[in-house]
Amino acid sequence: MFNIVLFGPPGAGKGTQALKLVEMYNLIHLSTGDILRAEMKRNSPLGQKVKSLIEKGELVPDEIVIELIRENLSNNKDAAGFIFDGFPRTIEQAKSLDEMLSRESLDIALMLTLEVEEEELISRILLRGQNSGRADDSNPDIIKNRIKVYNEQTAPVAEYYKKQGKHASIDNMGTIENTFDQLKAHVDNWQ
Ligand code: C5P
Ligand code: MG
Repeated sequence: MFNIVLFGPPGAGKGTQALKLVEMYNLIHLSTGDILRAEMKRNSPLGQKVKSLIEKGELVPDEIVIELIRENLSNNKDAAGFIFDGFPRTIEQAKSLDEMLSRESLDIALMLTLEVEEEELISRILLRGQNSGRADDSNPDIIKNRIKVYNEQTAPVAEYYKKQGKHASIDNMGTIENTFDQLKAHVDNWQ
């Protein structure tokens, strides 16, 4: 299995690039944000529990997202690999992911971080909000809070993978295609 963490702040383009990587490398896309939003949509007990946190741009507790990932990993044992998008969001989540994978003699091959300047993130998220219907994409104060939460709680996760020699940064101020070419180069070099 070939497992990638696609990393970067909200609005950096993780979802867009993940879809392209899935198509090229036949991987499974695990977006904890998408999974949580689907739970909110069907108004499940979990959806109800996380709604107010997500709408404020705060993080859902580690044990909840770790359990979601655990379920998805065990339901996809035949996968060629996974793209983790929006997870791990804390060092605790990164450690749990390593533990879950190592129990199956698996690991993370690469963490690839998409870098985008903050002003550009805000305008890309507001643009997405016009169609996504996401409450957390439509209010500048909430978007700024999401970026703050990212800088404080999530950005340190990159260090965790840097220490393991698995991290690379990719500039995503340019086109979708250019960024995808850079991501591909990292994946192909690894294999
Ligand atoms: O990854 P994405 O930006 O789609 O996540 C949307 C929201 O879902 C985050 O702002 C956060 O509230 C919640 N989330 C979380 N923990 C994760 C993934 C998403 O709290 N690991
Ligand atoms: Mg996303």
